[in-house]
Amino acid sequence: MPFARLALRMPLLALIHRSASCLIMCGAGLQSPGYARMIGTMNCTRCKTKAVLKLPRHNAAFCKDCFNSFVHDQVYKAIRSQEMFGKNDRILVAVSGGKDSLALWDILLKLGYKTDALYVNLGIGGYSESSQEKVVHFSKTVAAGYGAVLHIHTVEREGGAGIRELAMMVHRPTCSTCGTIKRYQFNRIAVEQGYDVMATGHNLDDEAARLLGNVLHWQNEYLEKQGPSLPASVDGFAKKVKPLYRLAERELAAYCVLNGIDYVVEECPMAQGARTLLYKEVLNRLETESPGTKQMFYWGFLEKSRTTEMPTNIMEKDRSTLHPCSLCGQPTTAETCSYCKLMARANTSTAG
Ligand code: AMP
Ligand code: FES
Ligand code: ZN
Repeated sequence: MPFARLALRMPLLALIHRSASCLIMCGAGLQSPGYARMIGTMNCTRCKTKAVLKLPRHNAAFCKDCFNSFVHDQVYKAIRSQEMFGKNDRILVAVSGGKDSLALWDILLKLGYKTDALYVNLGIGGYSESSQEKVVHFSKTVAAGYGAVLHIHTVEREGGAGIRELAMMVHRPTCSTCGTIKRYQFNRIAVEQGYDVMATGHNLDDEAARLLGNVLHWQNEYLEKQGPSLPASVDGFAKKVKPLYRLAERELAAYCVLNGIDYVVEECPMAQGARTLLYKEVLNRLETESPGTKQMFYWGFLEKSRTTEMPTNIMEKDRSTLHPCSLCGQPTTAETCSYCKLMARANTSTAG
């Protein structure tokens, strides 16, 4: 029975959604008897069989099959409306072992897109080991059946140390060092291996929280690049897309649980920015009071950006400011790119 299976796995969901507001599903904890009673009496909006999940922002409830179609439809709509890629393109999805990116790999394969994956092992002890295990497991049990390939990049092999140690060597916060390395490797591997597009698992909650942060600080430069599809503006840059921007975090967690996708539950022990978590919490409170707030905020922003003339378009701006890094050739605004600078500083620190 699908709901019983879902209910059994609920502690899993409870763990990912650490904040109390995230636990709220349609005004009741998903694992609470109240929720079970309520959903127990609900039928699927599409096929009228018993529902397993309620989606207040769509004013709908779904059984497992109709929920899967809903998720696939949302991703397909995202891909088409933002002109992300087509059936002949080769896609590289960055897979962290978490629910979003594994769900994305699964969905793209099922939708018939040629999708390989890249896992970056950051060298964060047990956390990186178990994330890699989940990715390898999915790759062998599901993706291989579609002929898809998994690339693994190990930071320690190229950088001589994991990101924690590298961050200490260059006296920078771990998360920003990690961001520089991941962005660099995602782009490098996509370009070197001839992929047409690089996809990440950022979801509606991620994008709405990031938009809130950018608006609060009026970071125009970041706002210009907040869209879910960024062109390969110059040679050496891969096109970057976020096909999950129409789906909420809890919907992706439910997708994984319902489809038996085993993902790493714990968050990175380096703790991501407390700010982002705070923005997510605030948005979750608004969402509870008024379902649909997050999508109204982020999709509304996308609609406005589409109809408002941007002062300079991204392509033109990138072409006038970027040139190849003198050491590695990746596009940068400086003489050497931030990755090469980071590695040079880490090398100096080891030599000293
Ligand atoms: P995060 O910044 O951790 O929220 O991750 C956002 C997206 O970046 C994920 O959905 C993945 O697509 C990708 N990602 C994060 N960490 C890794 C990793 N270690 N290896 C590959 N992809 C990753
Ligand atoms: Fe980058 Fe944790 S995932 S610091
Ligand atoms: Zn470089």
